[in-house]
Amino acid sequence: MPLETAGIRKEYPGTVALKGVSLRFEEGKIHALVGKNGAGKSTLVKIFAGALQPTAGSILLNGTPIQLRSPREALEKGIAAVHQELSLVPELSVAENIFLGRLPVKTGFGQGMFVDWREVERRAEETLAGFELHLDVRAKAGRLGVAQQQMVEIAKAMSYNPAVLMLDEPTSALARRETEHLFELLHRLASRGIILLYITHRLQELQGIADEISVLRNGEVAGTIGIQEASPATLAGLMFGQTIPTERPADLPVQAAAALEIRNLTRTGAFQEVSFTLHRGEILGIAGLLGAGRTELLRSIFGVDPADSGEVVVDGMVLRPSSPSQMKRLGIALTPENRKAEGLIQNASTRFNMCIASLDRLTTGGFITRERERTVVRSMVKNLDMLVGDMEAPVSMLSGGNQQKVVAGKWLNTAPRVILFDEPTRGIDVQAKQQMFQIIYDLSRKGISSLVVSSELEELLDICHRILVMRSGRIVATLDPRRTTIEQLVVTCMEDGTRS
Ligand SMILES: Nc1ncnc2c1ncn2[C@@H]1O[C@H](COP(=O)(O)OP(=O)(O)OP(=O)(O)O)[C@@H](O)[C@H]1O
Ligand SMILES: [Mg+2]
Repeated sequence: MPLETAGIRKEYPGTVALKGVSLRFEEGKIHALVGKNGAGKSTLVKIFAGALQPTAGSILLNGTPIQLRSPREALEKGIAAVHQELSLVPELSVAENIFLGRLPVKTGFGQGMFVDWREVERRAEETLAGFELHLDVRAKAGRLGVAQQQMVEIAKAMSYNPAVLMLDEPTSALARRETEHLFELLHRLASRGIILLYITHRLQELQGIADEISVLRNGEVAGTIGIQEASPATLAGLMFGQTIPTERPADLPVQAAAALEIRNLTRTGAFQEVSFTLHRGEILGIAGLLGAGRTELLRSIFGVDPADSGEVVVDGMVLRPSSPSQMKRLGIALTPENRKAEGLIQNASTRFNMCIASLDRLTTGGFITRERERTVVRSMVKNLDMLVGDMEAPVSMLSGGNQQKVVAGKWLNTAPRVILFDEPTRGIDVQAKQQMFQIIYDLSRKGISSLVVSSELEELLDICHRILVMRSGRIVATLDPRRTTIEQLVVTCMEDGTRS
């Protein structure tokens, strides 16, 4: 039974997100949905999931119009979604999150009904095991990393045995191994006749996953093509109306002076004895698999989670340990991995979020003028090619990729000397990525250094002067991207000799 949309339109105050979208999704196929940030992909998924009501148009299942008035109703009709933004309840356990709203009950002695916690945990473990995920299902979801949370959400959606499964950027936080695993699973589901809708900005992964690709552009269908026709140039043409150059400039010298020195930094259980020097103007990458300790390292350098031993040296000043306020004063910025929890205040405006980290710079004699902020935000919006309807509206109204750009803009505004980037291109379309890289290159030319943690290994090879590889909390190799192939980098990240 195919799923179709006929003339779906979605208006938000001030924006038309979908302008008459008609698409058809066949069972047993994996349909990719791609498009620039703000093109309308997540809006379409939310309409299918019953989370949003279309302004006009209809949805047909097997040729019959259906109403999807709530997520529950969509689930009852067999439509499940994993949304782009993490949505687990952090205070609840993994098991409770998976079975939220449908906890199995048993009748106790007397007449009471009780949640059968044993059963909840057993089923949760079973669900995750089907995914080769072995987590403590009693742990609070908020304690998990972004990738693990995402895996739990996927497992949760699949536990409904849906006829239609939609995944909105499921791999944006996953490393290679997890991604491959997910793909195997999706192929298996497709062969069982399930309709799969798959959204991604990692265009290189389409060949391994999609049967068919639909491109949304500015709220309209720009085209639907078979996977054989989907060359990078064709896709870029449909998505952006042009192709994208991806050259790294040759003139990005690294200076001899150190901007940041890390000496024997250790945080027990996260990483051990990490030492390296980040030079002025250098773009230094950190590669590694999930759980290698990359995010933990950045957080400890910045002082969010203090190191147990070792030193962070900024401009000859030895910090033991460092603290975020001190680091900010010294011109160090950290753009975090999880934009929802740490990066942005969702209810506050785009302007507020972009300026909050740089208030002291924007202030003259204790005053900060709204107009000055607006000017700063306008130029950032232009530089990062952001789609922002109203900068005074809550940042939560922006598409996922545009929110990511706000996180970057917020820190760029502080005029830092060193930026620690944790997955800076997560959820950003390929064109915006190149713009982000141009910014990193411009920073480098000005002598500003970048430390970049990314699961996109190709990207690290493209943009970095040097790459450190982390494995099980240690730096195990330092690689020169010009002399390293992607295969070598993958193998270095994976080699298992030191694993405990
Ligand atoms: N709650 C909202 N209120 C107002 N406008 C919104 C809201 N949610 C989304 N929009 C707007 O609708 C448009 C489409 O957004 P959508 O999230 O569907 O894009 P997307 O294709 O998923 O982008 P991305 O790749 O960045 O995730 C954007 O212009 C966005 O700003
Ligand atoms: Mg989206």
